[in-house]
Amino acid sequence: MNAPQTIYLKDYAPPTWLVDTVDLDIAINDGFALVSARLAMRRNPDAAAGALLLDGEDLHLESIRIDGRPLGADEYAYSGDKLTITSVPDDFVLETVVRIEPDKNTQLSGLYRSKDGYFTQCEAQGFRRITFYPDRPDVMARFTCTLHADKSRFPVLLSNGNPVAQGDEDGGRHWAKWQDPFAKPAYLFACVAAKLEVVEDTYVTTSGRRVRCAVYVEPGKLDQCAHALAALKLSMKWDEDVFGLEMDLEHYMIVAVGDFNMGAMENKGLNIFNTKFVLARPDTATDTDYQNIDRVVAHEYFHNWTGNRVTCRDWFQLSLKEGLTVFRDQNFGMDVHSAGVTRIQEVRTLRAAQYPEDAGPMAHPIRPASYAEINNFYTATVYEKGAEVIRMIHTLIGKDAFRKGMDLYFARHDGQAVTCEDFVAAMQDASGLNLDQFQRWYNQAGTPKLIVRSSYDAAGKRYTLDVEQQYPATPYEERMTAEGNGIARGPYYMPLVLGLLDAKGNELPLRLAGEERVQGTQCTLSIRKDKQRFVFADVDAEPVPSLLRGFSAPVVLDYPYSNDELTHLMAFDSDAVNRWEAAQRLATGILLKGIAAPSVPADTWIPESYVEAMRRLLASAFTADGDPALVAEALVLPAETYLAEQMEVVEPDAIHLARLALRQHLAQALREPLLKAYHDLKVDRPYSPDSEQAGKRALRNVCLSYLAELGDEASHALVLAHYEQAANMTDTMAALAALANLDVPARHSVLDAFYARWKGEALVVDKWLQVQSTSRLPNTGSDVRALMAHEAFDIRNPNKVYALVRAFCAANPKHFHAADGSGYKLAADVILQLDPLNPQVASRIARTFDRWKKFDPARQAKAREQLERIKAQVGLSSDVAEVVGKALD
Ligand code: ARG
Ligand code: ZN
Repeated sequence: MNAPQTIYLKDYAPPTWLVDTVDLDIAINDGFALVSARLAMRRNPDAAAGALLLDGEDLHLESIRIDGRPLGADEYAYSGDKLTITSVPDDFVLETVVRIEPDKNTQLSGLYRSKDGYFTQCEAQGFRRITFYPDRPDVMARFTCTLHADKSRFPVLLSNGNPVAQGDEDGGRHWAKWQDPFAKPAYLFACVAAKLEVVEDTYVTTSGRRVRCAVYVEPGKLDQCAHALAALKLSMKWDEDVFGLEMDLEHYMIVAVGDFNMGAMENKGLNIFNTKFVLARPDTATDTDYQNIDRVVAHEYFHNWTGNRVTCRDWFQLSLKEGLTVFRDQNFGMDVHSAGVTRIQEVRTLRAAQYPEDAGPMAHPIRPASYAEINNFYTATVYEKGAEVIRMIHTLIGKDAFRKGMDLYFARHDGQAVTCEDFVAAMQDASGLNLDQFQRWYNQAGTPKLIVRSSYDAAGKRYTLDVEQQYPATPYEERMTAEGNGIARGPYYMPLVLGLLDAKGNELPLRLAGEERVQGTQCTLSIRKDKQRFVFADVDAEPVPSLLRGFSAPVVLDYPYSNDELTHLMAFDSDAVNRWEAAQRLATGILLKGIAAPSVPADTWIPESYVEAMRRLLASAFTADGDPALVAEALVLPAETYLAEQMEVVEPDAIHLARLALRQHLAQALREPLLKAYHDLKVDRPYSPDSEQAGKRALRNVCLSYLAELGDEASHALVLAHYEQAANMTDTMAALAALANLDVPARHSVLDAFYARWKGEALVVDKWLQVQSTSRLPNTGSDVRALMAHEAFDIRNPNKVYALVRAFCAANPKHFHAADGSGYKLAADVILQLDPLNPQVASRIARTFDRWKKFDPARQAKAREQLERIKAQVGLSSDVAEVVGKALD
C-alpha cells in the first residue's frame, strides 16, 4: 500500500443498497470468533444501479446465502477488501458466516482482545473487520446482536440497546441477545464480552424516563468509577437544560478498556472508553485527569444527539458531529468549571496542536475534500477548529438563535445522515443571518491572519481600527489546484469581539460613527472583507484595544501592542482570555528577543517592568476577586513548541535556553512572593477535584515549579518535601515532574520507589513514563530507549506509546530535535516497528515530523533521512504512507 489511493468528496454517490435490519450472532471461541450476519437488504430507489459490493477486511468467509440459497463459487468474489455479488434481486436477505481472529487484531479496530476480554471499535471503518457490510455512515439499519462465550471467563455480554434474552449453553457457555431500537450506521455498533464489574445509578429524565447508567470496569477498579458515573448524570442534566435533549434509551453503559487507540467512542447506548477517561481516585488521578473525564464523558454522551440521532452522510463530514460535539463539551466544561480558565485551556490547545497542523503538510479544512486514510483525519482541525467554527456561528447569531437552530436541525434531520451544509442551513434559517460566505470555514485550510491597526484623532475624538485579513494557500490548496480540484479562495466571515480600555483601565462605552446606538462596553464587529475600517466616536483619549475577546475567531491576531499596553490589559481587561493572552504576548515578545541573542545575559533582555507585572499578577490571586486558577495559567510561559511556531527558522536549543533563563530569572526575582504563595495556598481539606481546590493546587504547583528552578539545596529540599507530603496524585506529579528535571541523587530513588508503589496501576505507570520522556536532562533520549525495553512498556498498548514516545516527540522539542538526529531516529524506529501492529498509532507518531521543514538544513537532512527510511518500508500502511508522503512532498 505504498501509494495510498485518494478519495474525493466530489465523488460521493448515495449507496446502491440499503440495509433495513441486521441480525448478528457472534460466537467467541478460543482463538477465533464466528460471526453470522443476516442482512435484510433492498435496492436504494434514489441511487444508480450497480452490483452488490460489500466491505470486508481480514474476514474468512465460511458460507454465503441469498434468500436461503447458498451461492456458487462463480456468483461472488472476495478480493481487495470487497465482496462482490453480481446478481441479486431488488429485495433479499443476505446471510454470511465469517471467521475472524480477534486475538491477533493488534490494530484495535473491529473486534479485538484486550487482556482477558473482547471489545470493539468500529469508527471509522472497523465494522468491516467483523462482517461483510456496506460500511458507510449513510447506511442506517436496526441491529440485534447475540453474543455467545464461555460463562466463567466472560460473564458480561453487552451490545447496543436493550437486553432482550439470555441463557446458558452446553460446555459452560452462555449467550445474551441485545436489540437496538434505533437505526444506526455500522460505525456505532459495539459489543463486549469480558469479566467486568459494574457500578450503577439511575437517571430520571425530564419526561420521566428512567435510565440505568452503568460503568463497567475490570475487576478491582470499582473504587475508581464514581467520578465518571457522576459526570454522566451531570451531562444528561446539562443537555436537557441547555439544549432540551433527553436520553432516549433505558440503558446507558460505559465500558472502560485499557487498550484503545483514541479517547473514547460514542456507540449507541454502549460507549467504550479508554480507561484513562474513566478511572480516577484522588491518589491515582490528577485534577486534570478528573476534568478530562468530565469532558470526555460529556462528549460521548452529547454524541447521542449530535452524531447518533443525526449522523454524517460520509466521512468528509466528520466535523459535523465532532466540531459540534466538542463545542458542546467545551460549553459543558465552562459551566461546570471556571468559564475563563476552561476557555484559556481551549485556546492554548488549539494554538499548540491545530495551528501547526494548519501550517504544515497535513493542513486541511475542517471538512476536507479529499483524503487517503480516514483515520488520519481525526485531527485537531476537524475537532478543535471545528468547534471554533461552531462557536463563531454561536457568537454571530447569538445564544437564543443558536438554540433555535439546533431545534430546527433536529426537527429536520433526526434519523438522517447529513452534511455540514445541512447544519449551517438550519442555523441560517433559524437566525435569518445569511451564512453563505461563512461556509468558507468548511472549505478553506490554513489559519487566517487578522492584521489590525489603530489610529486616534484627538480633535474629532475618533478612534479608527483598520482590519485586514490574509489567508494564503496551504499545501492542501496547492495539491487540490494541481489536481484540477482547486477552489476560489476568498475572505472569511468572522466575529471580532472587542472592548476599549482607557488609561485608568475603565472600559469605554462603544458607539460606531454614524450609528445612534451605544453598544455597551463590548461589541462584535462583523469581518467579511479583505480590508475593513471601523470608526468609534466620542473617544476622549487614545484607548488600549482589547481585541478578539474570548478568542472570538481562530485567527492569528497581528496588532503592534507595546509592552505597556500589554501590562495594562493584564491588569485591567475584563475579559479573562485577553488578560491571559496579554501575559502570553508579553512573554513571547521578550523570549523572542532572548532567543535571538543567545549569548547575551538574561537580565539585559528581561525588562524589569515584566518582572513587576508578573509580581502583580501573582499578588492578584490573593485579592478578594482573585482567581488562583487563572493566575496559574497566566504565570506559565508560552511552550517551546509555541515559540517555535513564531520563528522563521526554529532553533530548539536557543528556545529552550531562553525560556529556561526567563523561568530562572523570575524564580530569583520573585523568590519571596512565590514561597509565600506556595505556603498560603496549601489546601488542608480532604481532596476534592472541584474548581476551587484544583485552582489553588494549580497555582501552588506552578509556584513550586518556578522555585525548583533556583537550583539550590533549599529548592531541592522543597521539591522532595512536596513529594513526601503529597496527599493526592496532583501534588505527587507536580513534585515528580520537577524532580525529573533535576540531576540530583534523589531523582533515581524517588522514580524507583514510585514505580514500585504503582506498577499495578497502568495509568499511573503511564505518568511515570511520561515525566521521564519529557525530562530536560541530557540523557533523556537514551532513557527513553532504555524504558522501551522496561517491563513497564508495551508497544501494543497505545497509552504506553503515547506516554513514552509521543510525549517525547511532541512535548520534548529539545531532545526530539537533537542536532545529532537521534530523536528522529528513535521516532522512526518506533514507527517502523509499530506500523505492522497498529497503523493508527504509528501514524500519530509520524505526525510529529510535520514541522520538519521549519528547521535548519542540518536538522532537515536528518529528518528527511528518517522520513525516507519510513517511506521505503515494504508494506507500509496507508495511514503512515499518507502522513510521510505528504511530509516529503
Ligand atoms: N468518535 C470518537 C470521538 O470523538 C472518536 C473515534 C475515532 N476513532 C478512530 N479510529 N479514528 O468521540
Ligand atoms: Zn467525538
